[in-house]
Amino acid sequence: MLTSGGDCPGLNAVIRAAVKTAERLGYECIGFLRGFEGLVDPVSTMPLNARNTADILAEGGTILGSSNRGRFAAKAGTDQRVAVAPALLDEAAATLRDLSVTGLIVIGGDGSLTMAQEFFEHGLPVVGVPKTIDNDLRATAFTFGFDSAVATATDALDKLRTTAASHERIMVLEVMGRNTGWIALHAGIAGGGDVILIPEIAWTFDDVCRKVLEREAIGRRFTLIVVAEGATLPSGDLVIAQNAGQGQVKLGGIGQVIADEVSRRLDRETRAVVLGHLQRGGDPTTFDRVLATELGAHAVKLVHRGEFGRMVCFRPPEIGSVPIAEAVKSISCVDPQGSAVQAARAIGIGFGDAADQVSPFAG
Ligand code: F6P
Repeated sequence: MLTSGGDCPGLNAVIRAAVKTAERLGYECIGFLRGFEGLVDPVSTMPLNARNTADILAEGGTILGSSNRGRFAAKAGTDQRVAVAPALLDEAAATLRDLSVTGLIVIGGDGSLTMAQEFFEHGLPVVGVPKTIDNDLRATAFTFGFDSAVATATDALDKLRTTAASHERIMVLEVMGRNTGWIALHAGIAGGGDVILIPEIAWTFDDVCRKVLEREAIGRRFTLIVVAEGATLPSGDLVIAQNAGQGQVKLGGIGQVIADEVSRRLDRETRAVVLGHLQRGGDPTTFDRVLATELGAHAVKLVHRGEFGRMVCFRPPEIGSVPIAEAVKSISCVDPQGSAVQAARAIGIGFGDAADQVSPFAG
């Protein structure tokens, strides 16, 4: 197995569950190090067994290491598929053959599973496990890692609330999520945010400021704004921290842009906090431990049955599987008409648009 792409809490729990399940079925397990890179020169592996994975259930990160850059980039941007050099695929295939690998379990997000699909199309026996804090994979209700990231962002909001209230300030919390607003939406609801700004809902500074003033009118002299790093500005622009190469950009900085503009317009004290990689670190939540364990065990079941080219997925209340190709066709975005957004609007949370003024349940 290998772990690929940005890390997240729960990777080690998947590895442990897969190893325990596989050993009981009589398989030996090998981990490839640093994602797909471990499959090619210099091939780097580590043996995995019940003993060296025994205590990693609650540990963040991945004992196999990971990479979201390098030669095995199957996607440029959010939707452009890139064909990986056939020679590289041949080399990886030779490694799997030399090691008599029955099945390769790829634990990864959108980009890594797109790569896994290229492996499958190249004739390799691959099974996918959906991982990412962004929760942007189709065909699974939740990816593991998401709940842990939301817990971290919620904890941050709980802390920002007390200091915001003491100083009567507007606090802007910028969270991750790439081009989707799942983390912002869920943390915003769980942490009592007042305004949630996400890529899926167009917003204006006028509406954000209106919400602040509405709160002040009822004596709430502080406001918590949660913004997804990939939310676009009213101008339609993304805020980009740096160009990461290979058609990828590193998002970041929108929180400060919002804080500055709201401060300029309302003449209030604002502060911006970027939560960044804190959302990727630390222990998995109990939900993620259970989900990761179920996904790891079921991934081995697929290998054992020879059901390759499939990704295990969570379709509550059961774990199932879908073709990897279906899962990576496009990213999964927040539904602006979905029940979570509706409930948030119903309790008065603003999304920076005019629809804030009416409850979705009215009429
Ligand atoms: O996909 C996970 C993620 O944490 C995104 O939310 C974020 O935009 C990106 O990875 C950050 O990547 P890096 O670790 O390369 O800075």
